[in-house]
Amino acid sequence: MTLTEALRTLVEAEAAALGAVAAAADAAALDAAERDWLGKRSPAVVVTEAIKGLAPDERPQAGQAVGAYRGRIGDAVAARRTELADRSPGAGAGIDLTLGGHGRRRGHLHLVTQIRRELEDIFVGLGYRVAEGPEVEDDWHNFEALNIPPAHPARSMQDTIYVALGADGPEDPGAGTEHIAEHIAEHMMLRTHTSPVQIRTMETQAPPIYVVAPGRTYRNETLDARHSPAFHQMECLAVDRGLTMADLFGTIEAFARRLFDDDSVRTRFRSDFFPYTEPSAELAVSCVFCRGDGCRVCSHTGWIELGGCGMVDPNVFRAVGIDPEEWQGFAFGFGLERIAMIRYGINEIRTFFDNDLRFLEQY
Ligand code: DAH
Repeated sequence: MTLTEALRTLVEAEAAALGAVAAAADAAALDAAERDWLGKRSPAVVVTEAIKGLAPDERPQAGQAVGAYRGRIGDAVAARRTELADRSPGAGAGIDLTLGGHGRRRGHLHLVTQIRRELEDIFVGLGYRVAEGPEVEDDWHNFEALNIPPAHPARSMQDTIYVALGADGPEDPGAGTEHIAEHIAEHMMLRTHTSPVQIRTMETQAPPIYVVAPGRTYRNETLDARHSPAFHQMECLAVDRGLTMADLFGTIEAFARRLFDDDSVRTRFRSDFFPYTEPSAELAVSCVFCRGDGCRVCSHTGWIELGGCGMVDPNVFRAVGIDPEEWQGFAFGFGLERIAMIRYGINEIRTFFDNDLRFLEQY
């Protein structure tokens, strides 16, 4: 073997060796490549043997070439070994990845949120938009503009939680005349229903209006199986030309059938009183469990009361500057927990707020 041949052997061997090292997919393959390209029968050894046959002045160059070859291939093998070790199970801080883990439990939306979204979908499908209002409300929106003047007995229908305003309360609560602003500053409250969103919507938008307003509401109630000081409602408001009670009834029937996924659901309207609607009605649907025969869910009446409804009172339109001669409207409101309780036969409203996962996980 001449010096030239020896050097060429090493150059060719190096290319092949680096390729084999890089291609080694596991420790065994890497060991084999190391044996092939650095071991007893490797080109490195063959060239080393051949050095003896070279002229004395050629030997150092050949020796250095073998050394460099061994160095580079050795480094490549070592680097590849670390790489494979990092990837293997059990790599890192002595973690055994073959052990069963603690798992990761997947959460889901709260039942009330699920119902809210479902209802929003139904109404969006009917052409409505979703509106929102603040949970801390002023007297004007929660009561006065809804045709419930101060000291009116209708206020006692809703036991209100008032909020004491500090010196840094809102300067301009945002509603009209001086006297109203004064009154508002004194009477801030946790909204007792979602009906104030009707007012806020009509104050900022011109008819025609088709909105639903879901959200949290509050009353000064003692917690029991059916009452909670915090609960959720959904409000619906339609304002357009020529709307009649037939539109109200038809809308409620369409939504109830979609909600309970049952085309045989019937609706019942009985005369009622709300200051912001005239005429007003209490709204009930035929019991989806017994279909009207009477069962525990409907207290053997065959009907389930959902909420209240009616045609928007002209005084409400006047309060927000909409001409009641030109525009008509209907509105209704109902409780979201109540819908969930009916749908799933839940008899305890407290379970919605206890945050006991054993309950929540079921839905
Ligand atoms: N705000 C009423 C309540 O909380 C429910 C209600 C009744 C809403 C009649 C309405 C309505 O929009 O027209 O009890």
